Amino acid sequence: PDGVREMLASRIHDVPDYPKPGVMFKDITPLLADPEAFSALTDVLADICAAYGATKVVGLEARGFILAAPAAVRAGVGFVPVRKAGKLPGATLSQAYDLEYGSAEIEVHAEDLTGSDRVLVIDDVLATGGTAEASLRLIRRAGAEIAGVAMLLELGFLGGRKRLESALDGAPMESLVTV
Ligand code: PRP
Ligand code: MG
Repeated sequence: PDGVREMLASRIHDVPDYPKPGVMFKDITPLLADPEAFSALTDVLADICAAYGATKVVGLEARGFILAAPAAVRAGVGFVPVRKAGKLPGATLSQAYDLEYGSAEIEVHAEDLTGSDRVLVIDDVLATGGTAEASLRLIRRAGAEIAGVAMLLELGFLGGRKRLESALDGAPMESLVTV
């Protein structure tokens, strides 16, 4: 509902010139520190999980973990971490992607996702879409189906939704707050 979205938006604070001049950082820590807001967010994400018929929730390191894990528990499905490279001890699949400067790599434990899984990907912010796009490719390569993507905040002016289109391949993406 719109009231919940407004409440969530009001608890994401703008921090100008962080981490560098000219950048407006979106700080979600006030939302996390407010138990009513965090619980309402968890409910909304768990509802999306159920509506999409997801069997697993993937959270994207690091801030995505904070939102995705409680949503998975509330929805009654498993949680699978997608981590930055080099952090998972088992057999992994990895996916490289381009950043503004340089590149990055994310990994998942191959055995955590199976061909019968439908995965909801959760992260805090959709910016350029590079991180989410790589996660979708990784999940598909693990053999699982994409149920959809849920973002707390979408920075619409960066065009991430467009970048994600082909990797989504028709799966839905919902952003609770868009700026
Ligand atoms: C941030 C944010 C998203 C990602 C969005 O993560 O949490 O995961 O960037 O950017 P993109 O759409 O351009 O890929 P970041 O890796 O900066 O840090 P974190 O470990 O604190 O989540
Ligand atoms: Mg992140």
